[in-house]
Amino acid sequence: MKDRMGTGYHLQEAVRIDQDKLNSFMMKFVGDFGATLHASTVLVGEKLGLYKALAEGGAKSPAELARKTHTSERYVHEWLSAQAASGYVTYDPGSGKYSMSPEQAFTLADENSPAYIPGAFYLAASLFKDEAKLTEAFRTGKGVGWEEHSSDLFIGTEKFFRPAYAGNLVSSWLPALEGVVSRLKAGALVADVGCGAGASTIIMAKAFPKSKFIGYDYHKPSLEQARKMASQNGVAGQVSFEVARAQDYPQRNFDLVAFFDCLHDMGDPAGAAKHVRQSLKSDGTWMIVEPYANEKLEENLNPVGRVYFSASTMICTPASKAQEVGLALGAQASDSRLRQIVLSGGFKSFRRATETPFNRVFEAKP
Ligand SMILES: C[S@@+](CC[C@H](N)C(=O)[O-])C[C@H]1O[C@@H](n2cnc3c(N)ncnc32)[C@H](O)[C@@H]1O
Repeated sequence: MKDRMGTGYHLQEAVRIDQDKLNSFMMKFVGDFGATLHASTVLVGEKLGLYKALAEGGAKSPAELARKTHTSERYVHEWLSAQAASGYVTYDPGSGKYSMSPEQAFTLADENSPAYIPGAFYLAASLFKDEAKLTEAFRTGKGVGWEEHSSDLFIGTEKFFRPAYAGNLVSSWLPALEGVVSRLKAGALVADVGCGAGASTIIMAKAFPKSKFIGYDYHKPSLEQARKMASQNGVAGQVSFEVARAQDYPQRNFDLVAFFDCLHDMGDPAGAAKHVRQSLKSDGTWMIVEPYANEKLEENLNPVGRVYFSASTMICTPASKAQEVGLALGAQASDSRLRQIVLSGGFKSFRRATETPFNRVFEAKP
């Protein structure tokens, strides 16, 4: 058997190593390693506007793209080759020019697209920056709070989550909840708990001008960003952002309480459930958006589960462990586990109302 990957292992030397399986695992590693290294180049492209400039006005040579973006041609040339090798831009050997297909432009150059992905790479960068803290947490068993992470995590969360909310929240998630859209149209009081930089709050406020929204989060810097974004989006009069925890935010009588991708980050999700129940009108709705997951671990061992388990190891589980109770649900908690927590808070019903390949949307009723 040939040692195609140059690992130095041959069947004669290591009889228990299957050379083909080893080679195929090493090929997988090359793909993973390439993707990992490529991640930083996506950030460069996003920050310098390289994708946007390339997507506008047809194919370009490295010199043309460098001129358009006021960057160095030699760097841009190498960057373009890296992007082409990753399939993030398209190279035409005939002209020596680079371009973006409609799909590449849709995902990499259009911030308003529901599939805009560069935000994901800020999240990835934060994990590398915070890795030493996380490694230490494995030794001590202590948590690493949301606020202890690099600011790339907060930038990445807003940039990565907003497109999915823009694409789904008003068009399909809210309509999947019984009677919620009509209440929002008429004028409802809504809490967006664990709102971070307020992407979901602002999208809802723009869609339902008669409703009032309060965004709660315990992370002050995210709320400062949320207030700025609310002003920029012309909804500052309709939304407010207050520093408060999910288990004891002050206001009552909400028609809708929404938790977007944060219940599993909380130390005391059962305490939060109890508090939501007390803060809701008796005919109100609790909307819970959680990462997509299937019931059993083995059903989540796939590319989407890989993303979520990795983020959960480095962000969500440590964030929960840093808080009171420290339940550490993890980002792949099953529907049954979530149901148990929600019902323990005094809710009578809990159902998966809709889903996307990346999200589960639950409805809980008192
Ligand atoms: C993954 S982020 C999601 C942010 C936002 N909902 C979004 O979808 O963009 C999780 C958020 O939950 C917040 N959080 C975690 N535990 C909390 C708690 N006990 N009370 C309030 N906010 C909390 C964090 O500060 C963070 O902003």
